[in-house]
Amino acid sequence: MSFEIPSPFQWDESFCVGHQVINDQHKKIFELINALDADRTNGAVLKELLDFVVMHFKTEEDGFEKVAWDQKDAHKEIHDNFVKTAVSLTSVDDGVMNFIKQWLVDHIKGSDMKYKGVL
Ligand code: FEO
Repeated sequence: MSFEIPSPFQWDESFCVGHQVINDQHKKIFELINALDADRTNGAVLKELLDFVVMHFKTEEDGFEKVAWDQKDAHKEIHDNFVKTAVSLTSVDDGVMNFIKQWLVDHIKGSDMKYKGVL
């Protein structure tokens, strides 16, 4: 399922998963993606984004363990697949930016929303 990429690209209430820390992390990911979009050849920005995303995924996965969420394995697999793709990026063009933005929007609205009220 594909959701509309917001323009401008920023977090709004439609992305609220009911968890303050995670909402704040999602907001930061939007910001880092915009920073990358503005400075596509800056490897440090790409690294900061990837490092933050990995930290964010761990925050969610630690939460899943605490509540023994029955969809945790499937969700973690989605995270792992994204990281595998992201770490293989060697350059950032329009296609890559669109992929990253669409992935984030679809993942929050299509997958993260499933733990709303659980975490
Ligand atoms: Fe917010 Fe499942 O990543």
